[in-house]
Amino acid sequence: MTWAIVPAAGRGTRFGGDVPKQYLEVAGRSVLAHTLDALASHSGITGLVLVLEEGAAPESAFRADGTLGRPCLITAGGASRADSVLAGLAALPDSVRADEFVLVHDAARPNLAHADLDALLERGRADPVGAILAAPVRDTLKRAGDDGGIDGTEPRERLWRALTPQLFRRLQLTRALEAAAAAGVAVTDEAMAMERLGARPLLVEGADDNFKITTPADLARFAFELARRTH
Ligand code: C5P
Repeated sequence: MTWAIVPAAGRGTRFGGDVPKQYLEVAGRSVLAHTLDALASHSGITGLVLVLEEGAAPESAFRADGTLGRPCLITAGGASRADSVLAGLAALPDSVRADEFVLVHDAARPNLAHADLDALLERGRADPVGAILAAPVRDTLKRAGDDGGIDGTEPRERLWRALTPQLFRRLQLTRALEAAAAAGVAVTDEAMAMERLGARPLLVEGADDNFKITTPADLARFAFELARRTH
């Protein structure tokens, strides 16, 4: 059984507007509520730690009836995503042992499929380090010059986009994130912190539609996916 940490303390500034992207509503519920449900409805998830911005009201995260069907602990996040994940790791119950695997999943990725979570848990738990969901890069990659012109074409072979959830052992992930912070390195995902210490997490291919809500078009796409799923 596995606990999941959901960092949701970001301000979502890339989206624009006043409301952080995880609180925007789709089908009458916040993106965050959809994300929590995607995790809590999976039988492999024991409980959740929700990391909110200091002062944020927890009720905005939940379903209208306030239930998730899993224990959900709430803690305050930090200035960066890594700080928020560290806060989440510290808030895990003592019953989660140091060598136990924990998941980290973006609050703004509500379209996570159970099949992907199954694959990540099964293959990640069998790996000594852990694993992440990822998708191979399918487009041709261009490097831009300062003037917006193309400076070159980058080989896309062996390049993957890192998604979440990411699965690592509680203590190893804590140490890796602390080491990155101490070195002043801003890691953009958990795997990057592990890689810095020489670990080689496994890539588990996940669905392309486990996308992060970053633009208004992504919100419309999620509304579409949700309608397709429920009809
Ligand atoms: O900004 P980005 O899209 O990379 O954020 C990924 C996730 O990390 C989001 O769920 C966001 O709420 C969370 N985050 C956080 N604390 C921060 C910054 C981001 O929990 N200080």
